[in-house]
Amino acid sequence: MSAEIKATNITWHEGHVTREERGKLLKQQGATLWFTGLSGSGKSTIAFTLEHALVQNGYQAYVLDGDNIRHGLNKNLGFSAADREENIRRIGEVAKLFADAGILTMTSFISPYRKDRDLVRALHVEGKLPFIEIHVNTPLETCEQRDPKGLYKKARAGQLKGFTGIDDPYEAPLNPELTIDATTTSPQQAAVLLVQYLESQGILR
Ligand code: ADX
Repeated sequence: MSAEIKATNITWHEGHVTREERGKLLKQQGATLWFTGLSGSGKSTIAFTLEHALVQNGYQAYVLDGDNIRHGLNKNLGFSAADREENIRRIGEVAKLFADAGILTMTSFISPYRKDRDLVRALHVEGKLPFIEIHVNTPLETCEQRDPKGLYKKARAGQLKGFTGIDDPYEAPLNPELTIDATTTSPQQAAVLLVQYLESQGILR
């Protein structure tokens, strides 16, 4: 699927509200925290735990979750390489909009291909918005043991083709800002680590 602009005769219209003005109003600045990892690695649990902690501390935070987004915005996408690419491209753009609006935005998608994640990173760099890639690198054996949705079992039985980690690739990040192994780190501990990281970067007060 191509990400080229198809429309002709469109012009960018610059708004009048600056990022600083928005930041003053919200008392925070936006950022994207991009969780990547295998199905069942704990991405969503960590993202939702962090969201809860941030909101309880007075921050605007929001999780864009793979399984949830695939019920709506991305319901027309499956799991072919092209569809996964488009899935990540759209969410990258949505996350960028949320971050631009001043929200602390967490995304929880396997996002198995390095080039797709790198494209999203480039979008954020271009937009001067913080992009924090978090590799939830829980080992495959653990994800498979947990198998919360019974999908690894199906994939092993050959009833589900192209499942990430089984017969579809997962390309681990080479330079993630953070790496979390959910086998040894509880969601609460992960949320604490992430808050500390955001503070160290000056993203949280
Ligand atoms: S991604 O690869 O395009 O980033 P995404 O995170 O949106 O994937 O969706 C992954 C979720 O879809 C998994 O957690 C799992 O519940 C479900 N799923 C269904 N089929 C597959 C598949 N073939 N590979 C991976 N996940 C799948």
